[in-house]
Amino acid sequence: MDSRFRGNDKCLCDPCISGHSRESGNPQRVIPAKLESIGGIVSYAVHLKCRECARTYPLEPLAACEECWAPLEVVYDYGKLWADLRREDIAERPANMWRYHELLPLDSEPWVGKQTGFTPLVAAPRLARALGVRELYVKNDAVNHPTLSFKDRVVAVALSKAREFGFDTVGCSSTGNLANAVAAQSAAGGFKTFIFVPADLELEKIIATRIYGANLVKIQGNYDQVNRLCSEVAQKHSWGIVNVNLRSYYAEGSKTVGFEIAEQLGWRLPQNIVVPMAGGALITKIYKAFEELKELGWVEPAGTKFFGAQATGCSPISTAAKRGTPEIEPQKPHTIAKSLAIGNPADGSFAVKRILESGGAGDDVADEEIVEGICLLAETEGIFTETAGGVTVAVTRKLLSQERLNPDESIVITITGNGLKTVGAVKGCLEEEEAIRPRLAEFEDRYLSATPAIAV
Ligand SMILES: Cc1ncc(COP(=O)(O)O)c(C=O)c1O
Ligand SMILES: [Zn+2]
Repeated sequence: MDSRFRGNDKCLCDPCISGHSRESGNPQRVIPAKLESIGGIVSYAVHLKCRECARTYPLEPLAACEECWAPLEVVYDYGKLWADLRREDIAERPANMWRYHELLPLDSEPWVGKQTGFTPLVAAPRLARALGVRELYVKNDAVNHPTLSFKDRVVAVALSKAREFGFDTVGCSSTGNLANAVAAQSAAGGFKTFIFVPADLELEKIIATRIYGANLVKIQGNYDQVNRLCSEVAQKHSWGIVNVNLRSYYAEGSKTVGFEIAEQLGWRLPQNIVVPMAGGALITKIYKAFEELKELGWVEPAGTKFFGAQATGCSPISTAAKRGTPEIEPQKPHTIAKSLAIGNPADGSFAVKRILESGGAGDDVADEEIVEGICLLAETEGIFTETAGGVTVAVTRKLLSQERLNPDESIVITITGNGLKTVGAVKGCLEEEEAIRPRLAEFEDRYLSATPAIAV
């Protein structure tokens, strides 16, 4: 048996339509295409499969299972993939998310977001010292292209898929970052666009949506009400709504966060990972990414524990995880972490299951702790994150102080959005500096008088 097959004996493409067996593998290894010319590549995605009842569907724009309304997952032909691709092939490709295109559901070259992804994984020794941790890394999607959040990844997949399906109009319901990403990438892709958001979104996120010329529909209500309206729109109009009828494809884009972390660690999985949660898709897709890499034999299992982070003011998933049950009780959000403010999360129970079966935990923090988290990351590592990142840092600190995260093990924290998008959240805690006149004496008097003289 080939040593690269790990875990159970069953092929992950279940049922394996290619009849692969772990014993035989596939002798005909096809040299994978380089990304510059993936136009000719055959997708390894074989069908959609219901997460609950396992019914399968063809790869079409479907919102949910017709039998039980559960989400649909993209299933790949892992046996063929294993036979065709080596991790060394990946290393030669351009530094963007499409270097893993065989594990994404496109049939042709991406239409938008060609430069998205492969953001830095930064070793964070100063934050590690502040938290009393031995080995800490920050996955920095605050600098993702083009709109500075991890949502650029999911949108790059969703809109490229929308183009393959022939949609000329696209849209989404959003807590902000998705709105920015859909607006920017649909402008670049030439789509007509409708974006539905709660009216009380941060000004920065409103501007960073409207600037691209999208139709911005502000709704008097919270995200869950916005999302309901969006589902009705998707039923009536033949549009590609990225988080409704394109959701199965869209969510797959989040796997690339996991692939990149593993590759950037030298094809190694971290022992712990802390992930912010809103709908709960990102954490479940990083989990799926790690499983796929193990199944392909590209990484050794590391018993990775998944920790999900929320704001206490909107914590349906972390609350369920703390109770030890996948039953989600919807909440009415009230927090400065607006990007995470989803009271009735679509992937919530699935996220809890993944957290608990990994041996991890869910937790949440108050708004003041979120601001402290933003400042701590900025002051120690020079990375300015939005409120969602403040949640991640603050929950990491809380879990360490409660000894639920092991400081002697490797930890990755996922920073998913940029601080310039939520400036208002930290403005109040920064002291207002009075201007001085352009005089050396005034500068020294104001800034150096209390400090010991500097030798020259
Ligand atoms: C910055 C940021 N981080 C994390 C998330 C959580 O993603 P998910 O809804 O997949 O749980 C969101 C969702 O909007 C977000 O905007
Ligand atoms: Zn079903």
